[in-house]
Amino acid sequence: MPARLVVLVSGTGSTLQALLDAAADPSYGVVVVAVGADRDGCEGLRRAERAGVPTFVCRVADHRDRAAWDRALAEECTAFGPDLVVSAGFMRLAGPAFLDRFGGRFVNSHPALLPSFPGMHGPRDALAHGVKVSGCTLFLVDAGVDTGPIVAQRAVDVNDDDDEQSLHERIKLAERLMLVDVVGRMLREGYCVTGRKVTMP
Ligand code: GAR
Repeated sequence: MPARLVVLVSGTGSTLQALLDAAADPSYGVVVVAVGADRDGCEGLRRAERAGVPTFVCRVADHRDRAAWDRALAEECTAFGPDLVVSAGFMRLAGPAFLDRFGGRFVNSHPALLPSFPGMHGPRDALAHGVKVSGCTLFLVDAGVDTGPIVAQRAVDVNDDDDEQSLHERIKLAERLMLVDVVGRMLREGYCVTGRKVTMP
């Protein structure tokens, strides 16, 4: 049986697309069973629709408060029975209800080498600091902001003439490869979390 993946998006969904493309090959061993978003009409949702993958939208504004939104998001995801949930450009912090349900099975991809430059503007903050190497990080989400145990990282050189967009685009190339490789291995072969250390066979 292929493993079941739910992907959460907020925007363009180019990293989602890499997972959809990989999952189109049965030998990858993973099916994207649903794509969820926190907003209507984003390109990520359209990519899912084009791939024939069910979608759902869970907007904060449609709920009484963030806790109610968090519970609703957990319910929406649970309905698809995922083995793993991937946040791929999902620009919201999941709360306690979601983490109760999916803690240890919820990964986020971030466009910087954590623990440096967490938050919404990883590439911008890395450039402003003048680093020569940045990259991307896949981590298990915990209650902090980009603080969870690191599953994988890829380094990307920063060029002298980079701006935020050029650096972010180059990081995304590495991010797509990392996601496809590591999410596939996590689901096919399993992984082990000991404190902050994540290992795969
Ligand atoms: C990715 O670089 C992802 O790491 C980043 O948003 C981009 C989504 O691109 N996420 C964050 O910055 C979360 N803090 P995409 O919509 O083209 O897949």
